[in-house]
Amino acid sequence: MKKITIAIDGFSSTGKSTLAKQLAQHLGYVYVDTGAMYRAVTFFAMQNGYITKDFFDKQTLINSLPYIKLHFVFNPDLGFAEMYLNDINIEKEIRTLDVSNFVSLVAEVSEVRAKLVEQQQEMGKEKGIVMDGRDIGTVVFPSAELKIFMTASAQTRAQRRFDELQGKGQEVSFEEVLKNVEGRDYIDTHREDSPLRKAADAIEIDNSYLTKDEQFNAVLEMVDEVTKSM
Ligand code: DC
Repeated sequence: MKKITIAIDGFSSTGKSTLAKQLAQHLGYVYVDTGAMYRAVTFFAMQNGYITKDFFDKQTLINSLPYIKLHFVFNPDLGFAEMYLNDINIEKEIRTLDVSNFVSLVAEVSEVRAKLVEQQQEMGKEKGIVMDGRDIGTVVFPSAELKIFMTASAQTRAQRRFDELQGKGQEVSFEEVLKNVEGRDYIDTHREDSPLRKAADAIEIDNSYLTKDEQFNAVLEMVDEVTKSM
């Protein structure tokens, strides 16, 4: 069967990565979590003191971009690829609420976006890829054969993220998580460069009341339809 490009965009904590991983595993495609790349650059900026609660030294981060090497390594035990920053596995470090609190600011920087988009396009040039993020259907792969745009209410999404962080033993309150989700929604949809937007040809899925399996089966049918028509 012909391989296609699947672009999955949407608000934070809408389960994009869960769906993308299911699809990649089932179809034998490569999965790329572009949010992890923005998180990795944010972690680099935090590690080096370029971003704190009080200030953000954007220019120094821009000057450091040539020294940021990102790549994914597939972990067969987990069934997905983990994020490496300059050859160090930082998968765990990039999932904290601290990183979530700064990442939208870093993702606003055009020079950061240009570097990551170039790497993402390179990773997807052979097709057979499922990529999730905010600008995949609009900027990274505007001609992707299948584009999905995922939404769910902020309350539902915050509850999911809260459960996930608690499951990992991180001490956070529901209010903190909700504030982060709403704050990121705002910045992601209002930034000047590549704001989160549904591509005109994307199919919207509100999964507030859908199970993971219902959602997966619905999208799998869409993949079948697209590949059959090629
Ligand atoms: O998918 P995520 O929540 O891990 O993404 C983290 C942040 O990265 C998100 O708040 C916005 C940004 N992002 C982006 O601007 N463009 C992408 N393609 C992916 C993520």
